[in-house]
Amino acid sequence: MTNLISKQKENLSYNLQKWQQGYESQPNEYDYFINDIEGNIPEQLQGTLFRNGPGLLDVQGTPLQHPFDGDGMICAISFLPNGKVHFRNCFVRTEGYVQEQKSGKMIYRGVFGTQKPGGWINNLFDINIKNIANTNVIYWGKKLLALWEAAEPYRLDPNTLETIGIDYLDGVLNPGDSIAAHPCFDPSCELDKGQPCLVNYSIKPGLSSKITIYEFAPDGSLLRSHSHVVPGFSFIHDFAITPHYCLLLQNSVSFNPFPFLFGLKGAGECVSFHADKSSKLIIIPRTYPYEKVKILEINSGFVFHHVNAYEEGNNIYLDSICYDSLPQIQPDRHYKETDFESLDPGQIWRFKINLDQETVDKEMIASRCCEFPYINPNNVGRNYRYLFTGTAHNEQGNAPLQAILKLDLLTGKKQLHSFAPQGYVGEPIFVPKPDAISEDEGWLLVMVYDGDKHRSDIVILDGENLEKEPIATLHLKHHIPYGLHGNWTSEVFL
Ligand code: FE2
Repeated sequence: MTNLISKQKENLSYNLQKWQQGYESQPNEYDYFINDIEGNIPEQLQGTLFRNGPGLLDVQGTPLQHPFDGDGMICAISFLPNGKVHFRNCFVRTEGYVQEQKSGKMIYRGVFGTQKPGGWINNLFDINIKNIANTNVIYWGKKLLALWEAAEPYRLDPNTLETIGIDYLDGVLNPGDSIAAHPCFDPSCELDKGQPCLVNYSIKPGLSSKITIYEFAPDGSLLRSHSHVVPGFSFIHDFAITPHYCLLLQNSVSFNPFPFLFGLKGAGECVSFHADKSSKLIIIPRTYPYEKVKILEINSGFVFHHVNAYEEGNNIYLDSICYDSLPQIQPDRHYKETDFESLDPGQIWRFKINLDQETVDKEMIASRCCEFPYINPNNVGRNYRYLFTGTAHNEQGNAPLQAILKLDLLTGKKQLHSFAPQGYVGEPIFVPKPDAISEDEGWLLVMVYDGDKHRSDIVILDGENLEKEPIATLHLKHHIPYGLHGNWTSEVFL
């Protein structure tokens, strides 16, 4: 057994020390044209890629216990009509970030386990949460918004990335409200004569959970909202839509607040996953009167992210990344010391939901370790053929994401573009070509951390042929810590 384990370690596609360096804080804010470019930037690729993620992995020298506790830092990569590409990064000046920068010390505990120095007594009954605005960034209704699911959005200037302040979405939210960090963009909403629409949700957790669905017009105005109370505590990071339904997967978790209240653990560490119990799939109609919410038992494991959903007759298909267990940091182990091999990988499953019979069937569609799925944005909520996702270099086992996988759901054909051993990838953003006919006709924009050079690259891959050499690799002058989510807009901001 020991021989087998050491053999597996020999075959690792990654170097743990180099992977760890990608989690170094990046306290600097940059603003420059990228000159170090291999390949050619496609002429038609014009617009701005916005990305969000933790920029600081320490607060004034005190290391974070979990990267999800890091202050949000936005990157804007602008592809100009003259072929030039500009890079800019800026921290979201949240109230907590500004306070901690000014005071020179950690003032807030983190939700995912970071405790203020001084032991439990210094954290006892401190339930002040810092809005870290670090999970996603969207451009909608002429506003650039940094999102974090436990608080209000922060608005930034899309040209300069200067923080404007908390945004209540024109009165939709009240102080203290929250909205999820995973909105869905309906490319052609049936309810609005085919115009695009942004669908998002908020959750007020407790012994029961109040879920509110919001739908916004392209000018940012609220079109519809409706609330539903469902039994049980909810930890729901993402959701999926079809033209007529919102799908939220209520993971089978419980929450014990006492270790958090007593200053011993972060709130996120007080969530326990119950693998022996089914999760609940909550199906909420998007059409008036928004009634007949269905709650179906589903044996999904733990889910952070969904790939997509679509309707076919009386069936809904939902594709999700599922874990056999909640991928938490092992107790008494720093996140940088993650033992990947001991954790369950995220795998892609397809759920077929029969709305009449209220049954759910499931089938695995990719067994390899995957995270950060993305599809052609024109197919959100619709039947689709191509799925792109971050994945491990090797087909089996759990490991850092070092490759991008393209999966043809029609033929089962797979393509892989690996950046191993030195490269570590983030979420691949698919940008359709302006005159695209086929669903995969477009570019994948991927931020890749180069562990050898301790810097990050923006890599442009060909969506139709993922395996060929990158179309272009844009070398940044520095590294960007591993990020979370982002979005593309065809508007060029600089
Ligand atoms: Fe996410």
